[in-house]
Amino acid sequence: MSSTHSTPTNVTTPSLSELEKTCWQQLDQSIHTHDSATAAFRNMTVATCTNRGADARIVVLRDVDVAHKYVWFHTDARTEKVLQLEEFPQAMLLFWNEQEQTQFRLTVETRLHTDDYLADEQWQKVHDGSVRLYLSEPMPGSVQEHPYPGFPDHINEGDINADDRAAARLNFAAIECRVLCMEYLKLSKQGQTRARFQYEPVSKMVWLAP
Ligand SMILES: Cc1cc2nc3c(=O)[nH]c(=O)nc-3n(C[C@H](O)[C@H](O)[C@H](O)COP(=O)(O)O)c2cc1C
Repeated sequence: MSSTHSTPTNVTTPSLSELEKTCWQQLDQSIHTHDSATAAFRNMTVATCTNRGADARIVVLRDVDVAHKYVWFHTDARTEKVLQLEEFPQAMLLFWNEQEQTQFRLTVETRLHTDDYLADEQWQKVHDGSVRLYLSEPMPGSVQEHPYPGFPDHINEGDINADDRAAARLNFAAIECRVLCMEYLKLSKQGQTRARFQYEPVSKMVWLAP
C-alpha cells in the first residue's frame, strides 16, 4: 500500500534489520550489566492465559539466546504461572525502558524445564542469594495466618548449605520462551516508531502505524 507519510528529515531512521538487531542486543545487555539504564529490560511482565481469563506478573529476564531467538526466566515449579503455562504454553512478555521510552512485546511459546539438562544448566546460574526463593515450605500462593517470607527460619542471606541447594533444586523450573514475534514501540516527540519482527511461522519485518 502506498503512503503519503514521510519520515521526519532530521531523524536518522535505522533499517528494520538494524533496529531488530539493536533490540536483541539491548535485551542481552540487560542481563549482563549492573548499570540501571542498560538493565532496564531485566524485569519483564509475563502475561498468561488461564481458564478464568488473563493473568500477569513481573519476573526477571535470566538468559537471552540472540542467535536462536530464545529468552528464559526462572520460577518455582509449584507456582500458578507454571500450571497456567502447562495448559496454555503461549505467553506474552512485556518490557519497558523508561530512559529509552521503548516497549517490547514478545509473543512466545514456552516450555517448562524441571529435570533435564537445560534445567540443570539454568540452575547453575542461580546464585546462593537466590536459592532461598525456591525453599518455600508452603505452596507459593497458599493462604498463611501470618506474613511468610518465602523460606524457612534457618535460612539467612548468604547462609545456604549444600542440603538447602539440593532441596531448592527440586522446586526450580526454568522457562524457555521461543520468540515467535517481537513488537517494538518507541515514544518520541517527533512521532512514535512501531515495528514488528516476526520469526514464525514465516520471517517478516514490517513498520506499523503506532
Ligand atoms: C521485580 C520483581 C521481580 C520478580 N522476579 C520473579 C522471578 O524471576 N520469578 C518468579 O517466579 N517470580 C518473580 N517475581 C514474583 C512474581 O511477580 C509473582 O508474584 C510470583 O512469581 C507469583 O506469581 P504466580 O502466582 O502468577 O505464579 C518478581 C516480582 C517482582 C516485583
